[in-house]
Amino acid sequence: MSELYSQIQESAEFILKKFKDIPRHAIILGTGLGSLTDRIEIIKEISFKVIPHFIPTTVESHSGKLIFATWKNKPVIILSGRLHYYEGHSTQEITFPIRVLKAIGVDKLWITNASGTVNPEFKAGDIVFIEDHINFHPENPLRGLYDPQMGERFPDMSDVYNKEMLEKAKDCCDILKIKFNKGIYFGLQGPSLETPAEYRMIRILGADIVGMSTVPEVIVAHQCNMQIMAVSIVTNATPQTGPFEKTTMESVIEVVRVSSGKLFDLMESLIEDN
Ligand code: HPA
Repeated sequence: MSELYSQIQESAEFILKKFKDIPRHAIILGTGLGSLTDRIEIIKEISFKVIPHFIPTTVESHSGKLIFATWKNKPVIILSGRLHYYEGHSTQEITFPIRVLKAIGVDKLWITNASGTVNPEFKAGDIVFIEDHINFHPENPLRGLYDPQMGERFPDMSDVYNKEMLEKAKDCCDILKIKFNKGIYFGLQGPSLETPAEYRMIRILGADIVGMSTVPEVIVAHQCNMQIMAVSIVTNATPQTGPFEKTTMESVIEVVRVSSGKLFDLMESLIEDN
């Protein structure tokens, strides 16, 4: 048994001792989305600080806890505070919570994030459902000694983001009168944002939006056979999309704050029915 596998088991046992009825849905909250807690009924919270092998987050806008809750009567686990590669952790470390979620019984993963857009048809405040990604993280989370208990060594990546949910997302957008967008997410390490030439390159390579998270988590969740839905709030235009203002953490958080209601309305109706 690999060390990673036994650490996953230890974390899972710890959580299962504190909370038995494990929901099937988990939600990873992206930057500035902590206000989801205003919409849900919290049953129990466990700080990352006390879960064995979990690493507390260092980003101020993330608090770092597992929240067991019901959202519209649906049981959910919320991972409030994710780890990023730019904080200095390896991709294996930042994806550890995903493996633990799988070990305790979660099999549907909702990932949220903030992104910049390189597609001129999108603008700040838009919601974009992710249909595929391009991985520019310098390290793959599956790199290293192979343990068959983790899943396949060479997972096929041709069908990662759940297509059925993407269809349902479109229907929900129509019903809620929210513009439906889907696109390709370009994941890179940050934390510096991109130069105009880099944004241009990202567009030429075929992406629509760009951000510093999600891809490592998606690779691991897919290796674990989880159903994956990922959705982004576009927080900034870029030189690639026309006139734009400089991006700051404050502007990102402000756009997320203003647009999060739309995102939560959509997720609420999607989760309620699935
Ligand atoms: N680039 C990378 N990450 C981001 C951006 C961006 O423009 N906006 C929000 N996260």
